[in-house]
Amino acid sequence: MPHLRPFVSAVVRPIPVTTREQRIQELDRAGHNPFNLPSDKVSIDLLSDSGTGALSTDQQAWAQRADERYAGADSFFRFQEAVRDVVPYRHILPVHQGRAAERVLFTALLGPGRISVSNTHFDTTRANVELLGAHAIDLPCPQAQDLDSEEPFKGDIDLDALKDVLTGPDGPRVGQVLITITNNGGGGQPVSMGNLEAASALAREHGVPLILDAARFAENAWLVTRRDPAYAGWSPRDVARRAFELADGCVASLKKDGLSHEGGLIALHDGKVADECEVNVIATEGFRTYGGLTGHTLETLAQGLREVLDPNYLADREREAAFLADRAHAAGVATVRPSGLHGVYLNAGRLLPHLQPWQFPGHALACALYREGGIRCSELGSLYLGELDENNALVTPAPFELVRLALPRRVYDHGHLEYVAEVLADIAKHPEQVPGYRFVSAPPLLRHFRCVTAPI
Ligand code: F0G
Repeated sequence: MPHLRPFVSAVVRPIPVTTREQRIQELDRAGHNPFNLPSDKVSIDLLSDSGTGALSTDQQAWAQRADERYAGADSFFRFQEAVRDVVPYRHILPVHQGRAAERVLFTALLGPGRISVSNTHFDTTRANVELLGAHAIDLPCPQAQDLDSEEPFKGDIDLDALKDVLTGPDGPRVGQVLITITNNGGGGQPVSMGNLEAASALAREHGVPLILDAARFAENAWLVTRRDPAYAGWSPRDVARRAFELADGCVASLKKDGLSHEGGLIALHDGKVADECEVNVIATEGFRTYGGLTGHTLETLAQGLREVLDPNYLADREREAAFLADRAHAAGVATVRPSGLHGVYLNAGRLLPHLQPWQFPGHALACALYREGGIRCSELGSLYLGELDENNALVTPAPFELVRLALPRRVYDHGHLEYVAEVLADIAKHPEQVPGYRFVSAPPLLRHFRCVTAPI
């Protein structure tokens, strides 16, 4: 059947059109770090899918009805009801974004010397674990090592390794098992329901809470219905609900599958932990019925949580990501397979074999995409994940040199993605012309956001 995009633009925003000379100047001014570029010099912004989506007319209409009273606002109860429709936990606390949820919940579950075990901690998630003096362990499944394989659930946690940690000498120090759905750090790959069930059983057996980092819960549920025959007839809502039922609680950035520009969530069964979190939220985010969010945002979120589970919307998102991945492939640029929903991950290491990890091929490709086409995106490779010595020389490279083209929700259409693919194809015609990079400065903490680099 021909595919019909299930929405149209109701309001449009012009995007900047720049020349190559301007972009070369802007890159210089930005210290060759895409995070430093002013957005009015960026034509297509694929830096993040977080808080960057377009609102629907219904979200805007609900937002107009917002109740901004300090406590017990109607808007909170509508938000709570929309969350409860999919997240079946007793205690629900809004916060201003995902990392606030992490900070608050981890303060209750972890502490100095404690351990958080995950399929992959997202960067801020790991930072929040480590800031508490706790230790973050990533246990991605072995299938995730093969970027080209079409294995359907490469976001899974390695169950054997999880069991080893829980039964080993460090077992008593594990404060949480955290499963990130979908696995953003691992190429946006989904986690299977079988893996969640097994992780849930293991965690329960050892008396450790299983927490979902549910930033992309709807996208994970959709990919389960598409890739696991046992769930083929299920609605994304029912799959998402089942996933939450298997866990004891969740933290979520609602800037992704909440279809909102801001917002986060802590949801829990356990009254004692929820009580501790509530005190922390009141002290640092806001009263328990707003958590730092306006009534306007709570209404936007309530409606967003309904829209995000629409199968037509999710099918469209899958199709757009697959379109860009297929076009990249046709241009000779390998992507992490199979393609997920929130982004296309380019294999820069393979495209630029003349660059060694210490010349940061992923960063080189991200800078080339801006220079040649005004496209902004970020590296997921040695610049972000590699280990440096005291002179900022790379001593341990990242396992892969990737670039993430994140796809904001409901923003770019086929024409924009076609353009991205064309720019990529031009670069791929003469990959040897893409220069490598070196650090000018590399702050020890959150380096990729703050470093200055220069072409070699
Ligand atoms: N967990 C995951 C899996 C995420 O992808 C993010 C954010 C967070 C937690 C933190 O949420 O931004 O609301 O505080 N990811 C964005 C990204 C920034 O571009 O992938 P936040």
